[in-house]
Amino acid sequence: MNRLIVALDLPSQREALALVDEIDDAVEVYKVGLELYTREGPGMVRALHGRGKRVFLDLKLHDIPTTVARAVEAARALEVEFLTVHTSGGRPMMEAAREAAGDEMKLLGVTLLTSLDAAEVSEVWGRPLDTLDGEVIRLAEIARATGLSGVVASGHEARALRKALGTEALIVTPGIRLDSGGNDDQARVSTPRSAIAAGASHLVVGRPVTRAESPRSAARAFQAAIHGTTEARS
Ligand code: C5P
Repeated sequence: MNRLIVALDLPSQREALALVDEIDDAVEVYKVGLELYTREGPGMVRALHGRGKRVFLDLKLHDIPTTVARAVEAARALEVEFLTVHTSGGRPMMEAAREAAGDEMKLLGVTLLTSLDAAEVSEVWGRPLDTLDGEVIRLAEIARATGLSGVVASGHEARALRKALGTEALIVTPGIRLDSGGNDDQARVSTPRSAIAAGASHLVVGRPVTRAESPRSAARAFQAAIHGTTEARS
């Protein structure tokens, strides 16, 4: 299984593809997020496919069920492999998304954005919350019950989620850093080893690869860390 997903958080297709070409065979799966997709559209996904890459489209869909289902159908037609939806869109929305996704595309639920703290979630939902851990598990369980393939979660949530969701669920974890790396603006980071030990099935890495002096070497170092080898060949 190829567990490394590199986040193409870049402003243009030209820059994104230059990076993909440089990384070459060190990475197979790329995440295209809101900025790049809004700027470049489906052509970005087709260009990655044209290079033999697989695509995680991180659009965090959240709308009425019919609208989300149509967007999921569009992503399916594009042969996207992973697509995100907000679990707070509710069960009918997730069921409609699941129905539209078919058998090939994997839907991942976003529980609570890690940019929100307990006070902010309490304000939005109108009830007091001291901690968000229980809310994350609750939303993830609804996602699994509607047939989503898994969730996006930090390495710190992965252990409890793995326990709650079982062995088959995908747990896709961003905020990954090698021991030697800086944290950028990520408040809570995990190493590849600790995230996988906690139950992550896939790791999303952005800046430590995209901003590295040698993105290809950095990607290889992450692959080596994931696959438990001590050597990062370049
Ligand atoms: O550059 P970095 O490795 O921090 O990027 C991580 C990627 O994962 C980015 O695309 C970011 O949007 C995404 N992400 C995150 N934290 C979350 C959810 C998604 O960093 N809680």
